[in-house]
Amino acid sequence: MTAPLVDPMAMRQAMGRFATGVAVITTEHDGIPHGMTVNSLTSVSLDPPLLLVCFNHGARTAEAAVASGRFVVNVLSRRQQAIALRFAARGEDHFAGLELEYAEHRVPVVPKALAHLECDVERVVEAGDHTIVFGAVIGLDARDGEPLGFFGGKFSDVQQHGHEPERWFF
Ligand SMILES: Cc1cc2nc3c(=O)[nH]c(=O)nc-3n(C[C@H](O)[C@H](O)[C@H](O)COP(=O)(O)O)c2cc1C
Repeated sequence: MTAPLVDPMAMRQAMGRFATGVAVITTEHDGIPHGMTVNSLTSVSLDPPLLLVCFNHGARTAEAAVASGRFVVNVLSRRQQAIALRFAARGEDHFAGLELEYAEHRVPVVPKALAHLECDVERVVEAGDHTIVFGAVIGLDARDGEPLGFFGGKFSDVQQHGHEPERWFF
């Protein structure tokens, strides 16, 4: 067997230099709510609206989302770091003690998130040690506020530079 060219921890450290936001993926299957913290969220397509999330093999929330066919991406604000930690705890009932709120299509959501994107599972692709779940966005809401960031393995603030929006892009 040939030795891998890149050590997994070195890969994690290098990709950790790529700053991201933080989201919680929520879903419900057989009447049981599931949720987990992710930062592997990527916008894929605007028309049709598609996004993707990469789930570690065995992630309970991923299995429930694929089984139910529906999930919500809850984009966290900087005030919601405690929520990010709660939904990252392994093997816990992440919703214990929380009052559930639901999106339009009967998926539990994180209240006061900066954005909610409700998705149908569009396709599932196995890749390395992760499962990529593509979501077709069927509903959304978004509001102003400061996002929670993740950089170098730590939560961080995301600062705007205050200049004009790039017109060619927006
Ligand atoms: C900031 C942050 C980002 C994370 N991103 C991901 C991710 O993109 N994919 C993933 O599978 N796990 C990610 N995790 C780990 C999961 O949140 C954690 O393993 C979770 O407990 C698994 O949920 P489960 O109990 O439903 O299996 C992340 C954790 C943190 C704190």
